[in-house]
Amino acid sequence: MPRPIQATVHTEALRLNLARIRRAAPDARAWAVVKADAYGHGIERAYEGLRGADGFALLDLQEAERVRALGWRGPILLLEGVFEPRDLELCSRLGLWHVVHCTEQIDWLAAHKTQVPHRVFLKMNSGMNRLGFAPAAFRAAWTRLNALPQVDEISLMTHFSDADGERGIAHQVRDFAEATRDLPGERSLANSAATLRHAQDAGVRGDWVRAGIAVYGSAPDFPEHDIGHWDLQPTMTLASRLIGVQQLQPGHTVGYGSTFVADAPLRIGVVACGYADGYPRHCTSGTPVLVDGVRTRMVGRVSMDMLTVDLTSLPQARIGSAVTLWGRAENGAVLPIDEVARAGGTLGYELMCAVAPRVQKAVD
Ligand SMILES: Cc1ncc(COP(=O)(O)O)c(C=O)c1O
Repeated sequence: MPRPIQATVHTEALRLNLARIRRAAPDARAWAVVKADAYGHGIERAYEGLRGADGFALLDLQEAERVRALGWRGPILLLEGVFEPRDLELCSRLGLWHVVHCTEQIDWLAAHKTQVPHRVFLKMNSGMNRLGFAPAAFRAAWTRLNALPQVDEISLMTHFSDADGERGIAHQVRDFAEATRDLPGERSLANSAATLRHAQDAGVRGDWVRAGIAVYGSAPDFPEHDIGHWDLQPTMTLASRLIGVQQLQPGHTVGYGSTFVADAPLRIGVVACGYADGYPRHCTSGTPVLVDGVRTRMVGRVSMDMLTVDLTSLPQARIGSAVTLWGRAENGAVLPIDEVARAGGTLGYELMCAVAPRVQKAVD
């Protein structure tokens, strides 16, 4: 018997979340962002739920090959473009569209021998200051690309730093609009947060939205809004079982470091899930968890292979009882990944990407 921990990817939830993105930007096309192995879901496991997208956006060329191997013939976009000149050969062979964010990538394209001109997304750095041409350099980059026989259509793109927060996106939208005025080509600006929060503005919506985290059932602006607010469904459940039960008396402690001290008689359950499974070690006593679909709290420290939960409100719980670390329990109760992430001082993004290889994975 393997350890009872399992991560399950929910195909229908992926479909519904993608539909939710489409409702937010009805006249735009939608990239499903599947970088980082579909945010930890596994490209092959997520594919069925996401094949209704207009294209797949990702980083790794091997991941692009995997999407093609699944039979996808539509657009695939390399969000960071190519990493070295010979990557362009694979782009030609697999018909990959790619971001161009620096002069070197234009040089490599100019030297690339191909019968098939490439579709490129020219990226502007409108304030994120990671990748892209500064607004003042953007037009010159476009002009140079436009003159290359290796280049077919040029689309224009930027990325927001604060679509989920207070600072917002207005300054970046303005700079992008000003620097691209009169330039032809499709536009792509919005990630999940911008799509859900700002896509009523056509200048934000553009022609293509790039949705990642919302498609995977995490609210991009949690805790301001949760998945219920945005009508998103959990797409991954991390579930395990109780493998031990202990009865504590007042003064008894739990786990390494004795960080939790019982102040009353307390029944606790031991769950087969630890930080070596990808559960965040920084989660402390009080982090929510579901046992038999009923919400309770973690107590004590997370250890490598186990964590402990309060069973006070669950007198029927015993060895073998179902535990939901995040996602959806069998009775339909939902524990959003965002709540667990917050308790661990991180984001849903990190948790879903960090589920360990030793955890069995399934699809429903
Ligand atoms: C360029 C780009 N576009 C879109 C996304 C998707 O972002 P999100 O997962 O917040 O929707 C990412 C992810 O970081 C990205 O790097």
